[in-house]
Amino acid sequence: MDRITAALLAWYDRCARVLPWRGFHDAYRTWVSEAMLQQTRVETVLSYYPRFLERFPTLASLAEAPEADVLKAWEGLGYYSRARNLWKGAKQVMDQYGGVLPRDPQELRKICGIGPYSAGAIASIAFDVPVPAVDGNVIRVISRLYGIRTDALETETRRRIESLAAALVPADRPGDHNQAVMDLGATVCVPGTPDCGRCPLSDFCDACRAGDAADLPVLPKAKPQKNIPYAVLLIRSGDRVLMRLRTEKLLQGLWCFPMIEGDFTPEALEAQIRKKLRLSVAPLSDAGSARHVFTHQVWRMRLYETDAEASASAPEGYEFIPLGRLKDLPLPVAMNAALAVLTRQA
Ligand code: ADE
Repeated sequence: MDRITAALLAWYDRCARVLPWRGFHDAYRTWVSEAMLQQTRVETVLSYYPRFLERFPTLASLAEAPEADVLKAWEGLGYYSRARNLWKGAKQVMDQYGGVLPRDPQELRKICGIGPYSAGAIASIAFDVPVPAVDGNVIRVISRLYGIRTDALETETRRRIESLAAALVPADRPGDHNQAVMDLGATVCVPGTPDCGRCPLSDFCDACRAGDAADLPVLPKAKPQKNIPYAVLLIRSGDRVLMRLRTEKLLQGLWCFPMIEGDFTPEALEAQIRKKLRLSVAPLSDAGSARHVFTHQVWRMRLYETDAEASASAPEGYEFIPLGRLKDLPLPVAMNAALAVLTRQA
């Protein structure tokens, strides 16, 4: 165990990626970076992280901000529940912890948005607590290192991976150790094409010896994504456009143009608009198509433009937004193509 940890830390000292969230012992910064880095590539986070901290330099400033401002700063990063939870969690820390993040991982887990992974990452990186932070990278590295060939997401195997990961964490430099595993998983021990020739742990690695590192970890087959057709409606009324603040779990708190699920002829769609939005509109014109891929679903969108009367009032749950205000609202990337249709004519 000690030899593995020593080899990994020696490699980290030579090869650690230089990243803006490293080199500080500031739990708020660590929390923001770990929230952004879950499900998102380092390269993407690099442009968001400094801007977010400039806008919300302290936990208190984040807690005091309106939710829409936080979502706006997250716009384009995806998985927006991370931003909402970070914001709710910041309020909770202000109310219940005197504005200071606790160092105990069990206590950290009571905070909104902090699960076992984030608790481990924050405790080890910001507070030097020797606990693991098990994410996809760690699952891959540990599965290969110890030759774990059962379904890595199944409870028993998952527990085994967690306890092996925990046993590797040194009392000294636990945060560096955890980040070393992350870097190894991101740059050497990568999915599909591991570069075992460059790996500091190859001498200790069961899968490298057995030659099946590329096949590990064993993961259940992903369910096929659901393909959903939508008509996306750009309904203008004077210099305003109709929008809806989403309340669904997916993209909650973000603004979308009205969407009606299904494939329609223009006539059928006009009937839907009368029925569902209670608006009478000019004939629809086709404004192209777009696709957006989420983790579990794909939106196959046809875009249509039309006008409602300048005095039209928005149906319940919708709002006519002045075009000039659109840039201040959080919109998901899925709406970019529709937004481009509007700005093309602006
Ligand atoms: N992925 C998740 N957390 C990370 C970190 N602290 N450094 C690099 N990659 C990460």
